[in-house]
Amino acid sequence: MSQLFSPLKIKDVTFRNRIGMSPMCQYSATDGVMNDWHRVHLGSRAVGGAGLIMAEATAVRADGRITPGCIGLWNDEQAVAAASVNRFISDQGAVPGVQIGHSGRKGSAAAPWDGGAHIKNDEGGWPTSGPSDAVFDPDGTRLWKAPNQMSVADIVELQGLFVAAAKRALAAGYKLLEVHGAHGYLLHSFFTPLVNTRDDEYGGDLRGRARMMLETVEAVRAVWPENLPLAVRLSVADWIEGGLNIEDNIQMAKWLKERGVDIVDCSGGGANPEARASIGSRTADQVELAGQLRVEAGIATMAVGAITEAKQAEEIIASGTADMALLGRAMMRDPYWAMHAALELDVDVKAHLPVQYGFYIG
Ligand SMILES: Cc1cc2nc3c(=O)[nH]c(=O)nc-3n(C[C@H](O)[C@H](O)[C@H](O)COP(=O)(O)O)c2cc1C
Repeated sequence: MSQLFSPLKIKDVTFRNRIGMSPMCQYSATDGVMNDWHRVHLGSRAVGGAGLIMAEATAVRADGRITPGCIGLWNDEQAVAAASVNRFISDQGAVPGVQIGHSGRKGSAAAPWDGGAHIKNDEGGWPTSGPSDAVFDPDGTRLWKAPNQMSVADIVELQGLFVAAAKRALAAGYKLLEVHGAHGYLLHSFFTPLVNTRDDEYGGDLRGRARMMLETVEAVRAVWPENLPLAVRLSVADWIEGGLNIEDNIQMAKWLKERGVDIVDCSGGGANPEARASIGSRTADQVELAGQLRVEAGIATMAVGAITEAKQAEEIIASGTADMALLGRAMMRDPYWAMHAALELDVDVKAHLPVQYGFYIG
């Protein structure tokens, strides 16, 4: 019997299988509001059989977007647009999830296909912020601007915006909330010693650098209903000398678990230009680290990184490496990845498809 296609229950939410679409920025919104592109991008993977459909990095404030085209949950119009997409996803039997976050010093950038360079403040960009004023790529050709070092008052204000976004996520019908704590964006940049050189209570040792993430998650958990799953995406390794390693992240996962986090989404990289990128074939070894973190922190995990084959995903679940397998680029290539995997693994595909298709296929 397939483990990949067995249901997963976390709190009061049941996922029809262990396949999730990983959050992927689409850089296609106006004023942070989802549109038909997002409806089809997310909705088609729900039709295609995935159990979890995770919306892309969603900013808690306009300046928390990575690019001007990123989506947000800092106003009600954005929540109303998301609610309509989520109704469709839920109607197809998938669980809609969302990743809330702040881009920190990597914000105010152009879309990748427009070169990804920083957009100047007077050309549609915005001032960025971080734990320190360290520039993301001081020697690069892309001219990243220096972030403003956040004061404690800035930190407290931003944590309030995470809470407000979590409330809007609930109103929008999301059933899984993920806090983005990876890829060099704001929360990760506070956690990693590669960026955080503060000497106040939000810096210093591991616990000090973890404070920003832990307080934020605690505040979010207080408003995100107890019966709905809360996830955090971590870069489980910075993959660079002097950066965070898996042991640091196991400790972080234990602290998160104490604060009511249900599942850790194990990604990696992104802290600075020398650290490994968060997308690419070298992300495959994150999967193994998801297994280590699952055992040593005693918390459910999502594995992500170069998962492409049905048998590979089956093995990740069956071996106890992770509770859910997330796919990014493979699902971009094939919206029906889950359906094809079910057929390959000889699973009754009807249970994982909308009736309009399931009735005829299998
Ligand atoms: C176009 C694109 C956009 C992405 N946007 C996000 C994002 O919004 N949030 C995030 O945590 N990861 C993002 N990622 C990373 C993916 O979620 C995933 O972790 C990564 O692509 C590795 O998985 P894969 O090998 O299955 O693609 C993005 C990846 C791609 C390809």
